[in-house]
Amino acid sequence: MHFQYQNPTRIIFGTRTIERLGEVVRELGPKALLVTGGGSVKRSGAYDRAVESLRAAGIAIAECDGVEPNPRISSVRRGAETARREGCRVVVALGGGSVMDAAKVMAAAACYEGDPWNMLGHGQEGRHIPTEALPIVTVPTLAATGSEMNAGAVISDQESTLKAVVSAPCLYPKTALVDPELTMSVPPDQTAYGVCDLITHVTESYFNGVDGTPVQDRFAEGVILTAMEWGPRAVADGRDIEAREQVQWASIAALNGWVQAGTLSPFPVHMIEHSISAHHDIAHGAGLSAINPSWMRFAARTRPERFALFASRIFGVPEGGRGEMAAALEGIDRFEAFLGSIGCPTSLTAAGVGGELIERYAEDTLLISANAQGLLAGRPAMTKKDIVEVLRSAR
Ligand code: NZQ
Ligand code: ZN
Repeated sequence: MHFQYQNPTRIIFGTRTIERLGEVVRELGPKALLVTGGGSVKRSGAYDRAVESLRAAGIAIAECDGVEPNPRISSVRRGAETARREGCRVVVALGGGSVMDAAKVMAAAACYEGDPWNMLGHGQEGRHIPTEALPIVTVPTLAATGSEMNAGAVISDQESTLKAVVSAPCLYPKTALVDPELTMSVPPDQTAYGVCDLITHVTESYFNGVDGTPVQDRFAEGVILTAMEWGPRAVADGRDIEAREQVQWASIAALNGWVQAGTLSPFPVHMIEHSISAHHDIAHGAGLSAINPSWMRFAARTRPERFALFASRIFGVPEGGRGEMAAALEGIDRFEAFLGSIGCPTSLTAAGVGGELIERYAEDTLLISANAQGLLAGRPAMTKKDIVEVLRSAR
């Protein structure tokens, strides 16, 4: 194994830590851009608590509200403009992954003269990878993406119907203030999509990473088993704070780089899903749920032994003399059944996505993330035909 790992984000985790927001922000600057979504934080009371803490610490506030799920580059432009105009010195994201992602790119865009869309990778020439950003503080209200403690952001462009990624060290939040109580108001469907998203973050590296990473395999299995134990409890009873805590920490551990360290893993299922939610504005976790089992069945053909290992370690499925492929497929069936049991769609139709644009999703996926050979990286690497096949079987 050869790798480098560094995650500079400080995490402060626990119920009522939101009360420390003002103290945390004061370390970074006197005026904050407060970024929020479509109103959930106002309804839940999180917004009032955040503002109260900021004001008590003497922080001046400018606001960018109304960030959409699957956040749009137009909102990023608006927020960056507000940050510049108002002289903000720090960006505070209070919301789900969409708010956090948009806030990160606003923080970088506030330090960049060009158009922020040029920071997102969509096959363009002369892309600008950000090297500086205003300091960022994340306060997640939904357990899913792990954006609160990673350097990535995913933004959509309405004009081109593309959803693209940026990742750069300057986008690591300075602090993630993680108060699981803030997730108690997340409805059951979004809670379940978050569970699917976090599990998919680790299945991606489990199935697409390099060989010979047994420690990472066990970390990934730990995240999956924890999410499968506590996720259904959080879906069944949103006020179960213990379940909310475990799911929240699992979601952070799933994508703060620790589980992936040394695996050098691409994220093919994510890349395909992003092309779908760019067109249909569906929840990212719901899109993943619709396609991941189909991708697994496709990939198991090349590496049945890996999927048989997953079946054995996650579901206790024995190979039982019938061959690796049979065990692999049983494990995938059980995984799909788990997703269905918590209310995630397990087909594109169930996710509200028709089959008409399947060729287009495959083309967009490759436009955004083809490697030097023109393939979608993964195990196996995929051609356009392969992506179409997976999507057809996900219908
Ligand atoms: O907009 P508001 O009103 O806040 O409502 C949101 C939204 O409607 C609501 N919500 C959030 N917190 C709530 C709440 N409702 C009640 N109570 C609360 N406490 O939930 C809805 C979905 O929110 P969103 O932020 O869109 O969900 P999520 O956290 O799943 O983020 C999804 C976005 O993150 C990207 C996805 O592609 C998608 O755009 N991702 C970001 C990643 C990253 N930065 O590392 C990795 C992921 O793989 C993913 O691609
Ligand atoms: Zn994801």
